[in-house]
Amino acid sequence: MSMKKVTDLKELRGKRVLLRASLNIPLKNGVIQNRLRLKRALPTMRYLREQGAKIIVLAHIGREPEETLRPIFDELERYLPLHWGGNVMTEGFRQRMELMNDGDILLAENLRQHDGEENNDSVFVTHLASLGEIYVNDAFAEAHREHASTYGVAKILPAYAGLTLFEEVTELKKVMQPKSPSLFLLGGAKFETKMPLVEKYLELYDQVFIGGALAHDIFKARGWETGKSLVSDVSLKGSTFLNSKKLLVPIDVIVEGPEGRLTKTPDTVTKDEKIFDCGPMTIAMLETYIEKAKTILWNGPFGAYEYGYEQSTEITARHIAAADAYSVLGGGDTVAAVEKMRINELFSFVSVGGGSMLTFLENGSTPVLDLLEEE
Ligand code: 3PG
Repeated sequence: MSMKKVTDLKELRGKRVLLRASLNIPLKNGVIQNRLRLKRALPTMRYLREQGAKIIVLAHIGREPEETLRPIFDELERYLPLHWGGNVMTEGFRQRMELMNDGDILLAENLRQHDGEENNDSVFVTHLASLGEIYVNDAFAEAHREHASTYGVAKILPAYAGLTLFEEVTELKKVMQPKSPSLFLLGGAKFETKMPLVEKYLELYDQVFIGGALAHDIFKARGWETGKSLVSDVSLKGSTFLNSKKLLVPIDVIVEGPEGRLTKTPDTVTKDEKIFDCGPMTIAMLETYIEKAKTILWNGPFGAYEYGYEQSTEITARHIAAADAYSVLGGGDTVAAVEKMRINELFSFVSVGGGSMLTFLENGSTPVLDLLEEE
């Protein structure tokens, strides 16, 4: 099966194209924290513009309905001309749409200001679909969300993959068939959502390293004290994957406790301590695998990145950037780390996906992506 791609479309001049983009870009006090998603949204916008389509961009930002795409609009304007559409349900939006010329781009306000977006509500879907003649999905970061703008509309209008979404799928499919020696690195938290992924990649890859808070669950299952460390709601006790020889976990950790900050082996953590990162021995262990690997796939930071425990993630990122392996990474904090260090260009591919990347890697597709397949 292959995907219908935006470049398959002929005669786009004057056609109203609904373009779902991934513009859920991290903001701090209204300031953009990294530009990966913004830059990756541009190729399809530019392509459709060159083709003379009338482009209506649909996107969301954040999780609170009051959040606005306005700062993203201001930033996008630095890269290409576009117009602010505002609330997609208003008469004003429709009027602005009627005034569009060929090649114009109109950005709608955060779709999650409407409950109908996340609920895939049929009235909202019908309204969105009425705005366009063709639907292009370029929002890989939301490919795991069956929302009105990612799923509902694609069931009504002729639906095509955007350039960035197509590239994401192509790249991630590649690393689902890794060249040996292969190394899968998984950080972050919430084992309950990652168990099938871990089991699958223990089959597919030669080595699977589990870091971040996920590793605490493994320590706990081994009967070790994890103190005040973040653990998942699920118990891994008795899980057969724990016996896999391919499974790697931190061999030293950085904790904070009554004696301050210490580096120690994970089996010596006490009940008053909290694990925040992996230690230098773990980083060195990983380096030996990274140097040899032909394929490296990585999602999720290894330390409590949000609390400033960035070291293991950043040093590992540098090691991968310097390695010969085909390297693919994704996930908000992991991407933030490589962007901050300005080494993103040194990876073979950086995914805009966080949760969607993991869902794709687990299942090889998603219901949203299935709608873009050729009949
Ligand atoms: C993301 O940032 O991972 C996507 O935009 C999805 O956002 P959500 O988890 O809020 O649905």
